[in-house]
Amino acid sequence: MDLDGIDPVRVPSHVACVMDGNGRWAQKRGLPRTEGHAAGEKALLDAVEGALELGLRWLTVYAFSTENWRRPVDEVRYLMQFNEGILLRRRDELHERGVRIRFVGRREGRVPRRLVRRMDETSELTRDNRTMTLTIAFNYGGRAEIVDAVRALVELGTPAKKIDESAIRRHLYDPEMPDPDLVVRTSGEYRISNFLLWQLAYSELVFTDVLWPDFRREHLFEAVREFQRRDRRYGGVVGED
Ligand code: IPE
Ligand code: IPE
Ligand code: MG
Repeated sequence: MDLDGIDPVRVPSHVACVMDGNGRWAQKRGLPRTEGHAAGEKALLDAVEGALELGLRWLTVYAFSTENWRRPVDEVRYLMQFNEGILLRRRDELHERGVRIRFVGRREGRVPRRLVRRMDETSELTRDNRTMTLTIAFNYGGRAEIVDAVRALVELGTPAKKIDESAIRRHLYDPEMPDPDLVVRTSGEYRISNFLLWQLAYSELVFTDVLWPDFRREHLFEAVREFQRRDRRYGGVVGED
């Protein structure tokens, strides 16, 4: 059985994935990079199914970073249309599965207005779902998020002494989103690439060589097994509170 060896009581409540390696997946097959992005859709949907089987409450995926604008204009344009397409193609089935879809990232600037509108419609459609929250990090940067939180506090006239960790947390893009317990980083890279910098201070990190378009629920289950072998100490001592 797929979920063999997973302790249902210690399933992480929030898993975050860096969906990377689409371009390399395509290049290995002699295809244009964009075919790799297209193939990533199936991987995402299978990961969501796996997350639902596991009973995760939160799944967050990194879809487009604030640095990804550096790519060739054609690839950027493709990614904007592709992400809009995914929402249109998949939101109804995700809605039926009880998935609440949310977005984190900078909404203004270069993101096409039509895509922002699709994102708003999608969050609105699924806002009352409670089975699992799928957060899509789009035009997201961990540093940008912290800058935006501090800016919001300054704009509110917050005195310096009141700017503490809880104040910053309350001004992150989604203050309700708990810190990830587990981050799965695909494509054989050992870096965070500006993902959730604030939130992953104590997340367990699992690195896999799997390129995102090859990612399936079984890889998610394997990452959860690895997570369950770790000791989380949060700076303390095992067995103490
Ligand atoms: C991840 O795949 C998708 C995005 C960053 C948008 P890449 O496009 O980065 O694929 P590689 O890393 O070049 O293989
Ligand atoms: C990370 O992938 C961002 C996303 C998956 C959206 P990148 O391909 O942008 O990361 P680097 O450049 O390899 O660090
Ligand atoms: Mg990449």
